Amino acid sequence: MTLQLTRGELLRTQNLIGGKWVDASSEARYPVTNPATNGTIKQVANSSSVDARAATDAAARALPAWRDRLPRERAEILRRWHTLIVENTEDLATLMSMEQGKPMVESRDEVAYGASYVAWFADEATKIYGDIIPQHQRGKRMSAVKESVGIVAAITPWNFPLAMIARKITPALAAGCTVVAKPAEDTPLTALALAALAHEAGVPEGVLNMITAAREDGINAVADWLADDRVRKITFTGSTAVGKHLARESAGTLKKLSLELGGNAPFIVFEDADLDAAVTGLMAAKFRNGGQTCVCPNRIYVHAAIYERFADLLGQRVSALRVGPANDPQSQIGPVINQRAIEKIARHVDDAVAQGAHALVGGKRLEALGPNYYAPTVLTNANDSMLLCCEETFGPVAPLFPFDDEDEVVRLANDTPYGLAAYFYTQNLRRIDRVSRKLEAGVIGINEGAVASEAAPFGGVKESGYGREGSKYGLDDYLTIKYMCQGGLD
Ligand code: SIN
Repeated sequence: MTLQLTRGELLRTQNLIGGKWVDASSEARYPVTNPATNGTIKQVANSSSVDARAATDAAARALPAWRDRLPRERAEILRRWHTLIVENTEDLATLMSMEQGKPMVESRDEVAYGASYVAWFADEATKIYGDIIPQHQRGKRMSAVKESVGIVAAITPWNFPLAMIARKITPALAAGCTVVAKPAEDTPLTALALAALAHEAGVPEGVLNMITAAREDGINAVADWLADDRVRKITFTGSTAVGKHLARESAGTLKKLSLELGGNAPFIVFEDADLDAAVTGLMAAKFRNGGQTCVCPNRIYVHAAIYERFADLLGQRVSALRVGPANDPQSQIGPVINQRAIEKIARHVDDAVAQGAHALVGGKRLEALGPNYYAPTVLTNANDSMLLCCEETFGPVAPLFPFDDEDEVVRLANDTPYGLAAYFYTQNLRRIDRVSRKLEAGVIGINEGAVASEAAPFGGVKESGYGREGSKYGLDDYLTIKYMCQGGLD
């Protein structure tokens, strides 16, 4: 795949600070690679805490004017940004597929998905209401207004290089916050192009600042934001371990936090499920982005009475999946993100097979295609002593665990520190009510595998984090409530 953009100026490799594209202060750079080949696509700025501090300085200078803009004016800028994102879909999708590896068809879908958050929060910007509170004493007027929280630091993952950053930045901008952002080290090019379009749409200088950095240097750069009391909020999507680190390290300045962390989602197929629908739902949920989403089912519980039939139907669908490079229009599954990822997938599958699982489909690397390809896999006879039961595999592997009883499977589904998404298939209405109440997760798919939407609140419980993104609730995390009590009125 060659990097050919209609608008070459969307290929950015420097930091955006205070409205200017600048090198890292040390002039250091690091390579961004194509997971299909491990070849270098481009070198980008490798930032340090000096650059992180410069971004915060710019965000602090821009905050008063941006916060005081009319909500309608902020909404108009976001709408222009939305239009530009949609108009530049092909370039954004090309950058995304190059650095992340997802097939072009999925990258185009992600551009539309990310753009939907921009449009959503453009509308929400004009709906930030307060309250007049019924007075509790004569002579007093009490009211509550919502104000921007201040400077927001957004730290985003590689699996959705555009959508995750869009759904963090746009509510922040809509609420009147200014932003310092660091995209994942693996996928900075899509995020930088998005920032270039924000600039073109009229986001003023310093309102959105973005720095890039390699893994260790990124941790050091972000440490500056965690300690800086001008940064009032951190929003992060990624692993639970990193989320806990951010919570600990930002505690010194008591920042507001939104953490969207690991999932280990259960997917339950009851004996009374519509099996075709369940297989279709599982294919959508499990194999989206090659199994690399936080809401991908990781543990698939199938009732013993339908286990063989379900495995057979699923096996047929999975063996038909086409694996290949992102630019092949036939590809449905691309490479996984990097060597660490493929090694983890192989370790999980090898461990499961060593403990008695059977690879009905796949179960091996596809080295002939490139260094980071893994065959879409169905494992039968999975059990809870296997690594893939307690750790997220984050790859195209569907392990099927047999079960016999509703109470037992709900207990197993909840037997994890995580609680992001959970899915179940049944045609029994009473069971729908019972199981959806008992499952410990922030997002529940009931006879449905595709749950994501800009109109829906997205976020977890337990160690999957806190805060909600998208929906009418998604703005609250970027606002604080100020209560005003005016006396002497009688
Ligand atoms: C994620 O994997 O973190 C996000 C998935 C989604 O938005 O559907």
